[in-house]
Amino acid sequence: MERELALEIVRVTEMAALASSHWMGRGKKNEADGAATSAMRAMFDTINMRGTVVIGEGELDEAPMLYIGEKLGHPEAGGPEVDVAVDPLEGTTIVAKGHNNAMSVIAIGDRGTLLHAPDMYMMKMAVGKRAAGQINLLDPVDKMIEVVAKANNKRVSDVTVIVQERERHQHIIDTVREKGARVKLFGDGDVGAAIAACLPHTGIDLFLGIGGAPEGVISAAAIKCLGGDMQAMLKPQNNGERERCIKMGLTNPEQLLTLNDMVKGDDAIFAATGVSDGELLQGVRYLGDDMVETHSIVMRAQTKTIRFVRALHNIEHKPNLLWK
Ligand code: FBP
Repeated sequence: MERELALEIVRVTEMAALASSHWMGRGKKNEADGAATSAMRAMFDTINMRGTVVIGEGELDEAPMLYIGEKLGHPEAGGPEVDVAVDPLEGTTIVAKGHNNAMSVIAIGDRGTLLHAPDMYMMKMAVGKRAAGQINLLDPVDKMIEVVAKANNKRVSDVTVIVQERERHQHIIDTVREKGARVKLFGDGDVGAAIAACLPHTGIDLFLGIGGAPEGVISAAAIKCLGGDMQAMLKPQNNGERERCIKMGLTNPEQLLTLNDMVKGDDAIFAATGVSDGELLQGVRYLGDDMVETHSIVMRAQTKTIRFVRALHNIEHKPNLLWK
């Protein structure tokens, strides 16, 4: 994939984050998501690529844009043929409530490399580079803690496990506490949490829990760029969901999925722009005089370059971003 694509893609997440940031704390999650989706869709038209949405806002009959199978980019310009996974607003409830951790995210892989994950639950585990290859999702939680402690050269009591605050995770939280390690709970936004487990400066060693499968594949692309590791398993809740997995090409819906099963090959691009402040990125800030600041991360798996991009947007010159 052309390296220019990485810098182009960050413009798309910036626009989606800016558009949805208007809805911060207004209690309207659908409007926040809609604004991010429309802005993202419009920006994709300016990108030189031949993209196909493999993870998006839903099937054609469920979503007016960024639906699975939709073609994106400038096909006539002859850009690379790619799979595109999007979450225009990761954390719709977060924005509605004005909480932390919302982002706009995109992952891109060569055509045919990103897993077509159905919109259902997925059990996920993520660790950074030092523990990569040493943990199995099916291991008991206390064993995982011992392994990350050793890999990251920490005492068990200094290990931090990040877990989404949900009743279904109580057994994980209890086990971490019984083992004597630390728990960091978050309300929503598990892409940022999975990535945080792969960045040593966050102090987080392990991400565990059940969340959305589409978010899982997007996280996997980011983790491939960071040299970390991730394993996952779909959690269909009924026969309908099981059949859906099979229809999407996953003949054994509950198979253990490795990082390479979710993102094949050596290359992938990941970009995210913060909407509200989070572990990974600062959110959109309105500075006055029509200046708005965004913070983004953009990474490429092939070269493992991680770029943090701080941008100042003058919305007087971007009329589509003015609040109406
Ligand atoms: P949305 O942006 O769709 O609201 O997703 C937020 C999120 O927290 C994801 O990060 C996570 O994967 C999923 O919801 C968990 O689902 P649930 O809220 O059903 O526990």
